[in-house]
Order: sequence, then structure tokens, then C-alpha cells
Amino acid sequence: MYGIDILYMEHENILNFTNLLEEKLIGILEGEEVETEYFKRAIAFIREYADSHHHQKEEDILFKYMVESLGPIAEKLIRSGMLVEHDLARFTTGQLEEAVIAYEESPTSKNKLDILANGMNYIYLLRRHATKENTVLYTFAEKNLSQEIKDKIDEESKQYESIEKDFSHISEFFIR
Ligand SMILES: [Fe+2]
Ligand SMILES: [Fe+2]
Repeated sequence: MYGIDILYMEHENILNFTNLLEEKLIGILEGEEVETEYFKRAIAFIREYADSHHHQKEEDILFKYMVESLGPIAEKLIRSGMLVEHDLARFTTGQLEEAVIAYEESPTSKNKLDILANGMNYIYLLRRHATKENTVLYTFAEKNLSQEIKDKIDEESKQYESIEKDFSHISEFFIR
């Protein structure tokens, strides 16, 4: 199913990003310099791709149809699970950004720790979230949505994808 296959593919990019970010954080822990410009690009990847492109598309298309047509179990799974986690990811990204700005102004060990902690927080959250969607939510949708709704999701997803978006400034984070 196109509309869900593309979400799986985006998870691969997002999970690849979490691996790259984790390597960067480990490097810092082992003594490498904190490159604040790297973190600004990483935050741009999170905001423009993981959130505005991927999470927003889930919310506007797949989740919308699941809540409308799959009853209270789907609604609970989405409203008190997935949407809460999307918001938590947005909050954690803001915390990471604050830590990076604070480190630029004052490169103390405390501000460095805030970058490491908020970075790992985002990584753990997204790994858990994407795995839950891959193994529970998407499979539930594929099994239970009617063909008519699946066709609508595919159609709207194709429209969404047809809007040109430039990710060239954050291409280092995508699977090549
Ligand atoms: Fe999600
Ligand atoms: Fe997702």
C-alpha cells in the first residue's frame, strides 16, 4: 500500500539519522569538539523532514482516516499514543536547540551535557515511536482499513509527495 510503504521508507531515513546523531554524541563524549553548526543541521532535519514532512503527513492522512473509520481502539492508540509522542518529540527538539544555543554562548560542561542528554532523549523517543508504528500501528491499519479508505490514503499521499521540497541542505542525514 503506497501511503504506508512511503511511511516505512521515511522511518528508515529517520532511524538512520538517529544512528548518525548517536555516533556524533559518542564522539563528543570521547573528546571531540562540539560543532554547533552540525547540530543546527540536525535540528533542521528533525523539523523539516521528521516532523513537518513525516509526522505531519501521518497526522493529516493516515491517522485522520484511522480515527474516522477504525473505532475506539485506533482512536486511543493515536490520540493518547502517537500524537502525544509527536508533541514530545517537538518539545525535545526545542530543548536540544536551547542547549546548542546555550553552548554557543557559554561552552561549559553543563551545556555540553544538555546537548548529549537531549540528543539521546530524542534518539530513544524516535526509535521507540517508529518501531511501535512499524510493528503495531501500520500493520493494524493495513489489516483493518477498507479498500476504499486505503485508496483515498494512497491518493492523498501521492498528492502530498508531489509537492516539491528541497532537502539538499540536510542531505548528509539521508540514506544514500
Ligand atoms: Fe509518528
Ligand atoms: Fe512515523
